[in-house]
Amino acid sequence: MRKTGHEAERGIELEFLGCPEAQDGCAERLEAVYEGLISGREGFTGWAALPERADGPSVARVLEAAARIRSQSEALVVIGIGGSYLGARAALELLGRRGRGPELLFAGQNISGTYHADLLDAVSGKELSVCVVSKSGTTTEPSIAFAVFRDLLHERYGREGAAGRIYAITDPSSGTLRAEADAEGYTSFEIPPDIGGRYSVLTPVGLLPMAVAGIDIAEALAGARLAASPALRSLAGRMAGVRKALMDSGKSVEVFEQYEPSMFFFTEWMKQLFGESEGKEGKGLFPAGLSFSTDLHSMGQFLQEGSQIFFETLLDVKRPPRDLAVPAGAGPLLAGKSMNEVNRAALEGVVAAHRAAGVPIIRVGVPDVSPHSFGQMVFFFQLVCAFTGRLMGVDPFNQPGVERYKSEMKRLLGAAASG
Ligand code: PA5
Repeated sequence: MRKTGHEAERGIELEFLGCPEAQDGCAERLEAVYEGLISGREGFTGWAALPERADGPSVARVLEAAARIRSQSEALVVIGIGGSYLGARAALELLGRRGRGPELLFAGQNISGTYHADLLDAVSGKELSVCVVSKSGTTTEPSIAFAVFRDLLHERYGREGAAGRIYAITDPSSGTLRAEADAEGYTSFEIPPDIGGRYSVLTPVGLLPMAVAGIDIAEALAGARLAASPALRSLAGRMAGVRKALMDSGKSVEVFEQYEPSMFFFTEWMKQLFGESEGKEGKGLFPAGLSFSTDLHSMGQFLQEGSQIFFETLLDVKRPPRDLAVPAGAGPLLAGKSMNEVNRAALEGVVAAHRAAGVPIIRVGVPDVSPHSFGQMVFFFQLVCAFTGRLMGVDPFNQPGVERYKSEMKRLLGAAASG
């Protein structure tokens, strides 16, 4: 067992259990990759400089808009899909709503009429604002949801009143959403052209909904800065090297697993980040997400004795925010312990059992559940992903396959309309 760690008290730690070594020279190669990422010369790498680039004035503008939303609304509907949705959702689910602010609801991440009709019911009678996020400004799912909620705002507040309650986050110059935001006078924020959707959490895409929820975004950015430090960068490089070695050894699935239900959407965000970045040219690890101990009772059997196509990446939260004593009625084995102690026993038991079955495990020690750790994890895994993509020889910043489904769907809708 090899253990590495960052000296800073609150840094991510890694442990590689039963994993192959990264290739010789990997660390040096990845430091050169990092230099390329922050050089500003490579396409879609603007995210790499974000921890430093997110300056005071841009954060202040986000906070100012968030304060306005908090004062004018009982509910904020955040509209977006994929990279324009999952980061904010992950932050909200992990960190929750702080203080008295509007309820945050999500729309446009699916095309379900039932979901959106239920959402309209949920906001009925509530003072409402809408935050629409779409880099292209043309994606079908958020376009439909925005049309629904824009109509509702027009009905309730008139066109001008609605404009004061619509917050648009989109490309600085292209797309229909940008044109509309400028024409109607919506408060708007830019998604920098050199930052792709799944790398955009630390732009207003993630930061505005987080700030509305009362989450300390300056702390999240401080966490990201820690992840960009040489020590954590080198950990990210090690993880990338080991993931590549695992792929080369024949593993084709990476299971992201966690023991805190509030982390569920964080692993959903990770699935998009890694799946969309690596899955191309017939390459890449298929990312799966499991919630333990829940899924031990459905997928535990496969992990223990099934086809060994996978390895596990365990997100191990060292200090969960709350705990509860197990009452005496739970029986002598459990009485006197806390739920977190029992949860930890489950975690360690699974690690021991899966290791005995030969499953490689990358254990990621997450200091706590805080905005700082959130920002740190976001930037850390973005680095791991970009590094692994470079090692695999794929472009980790494009998504030609997603674009293909989008245009196929539009073709079919066009054919139906004209036929
Ligand atoms: O990561 C990506 O690029 C995608 O998941 C997009 O974020 C997603 O398709 C939504 O695109 P847009 O923000 O243009 O509406």
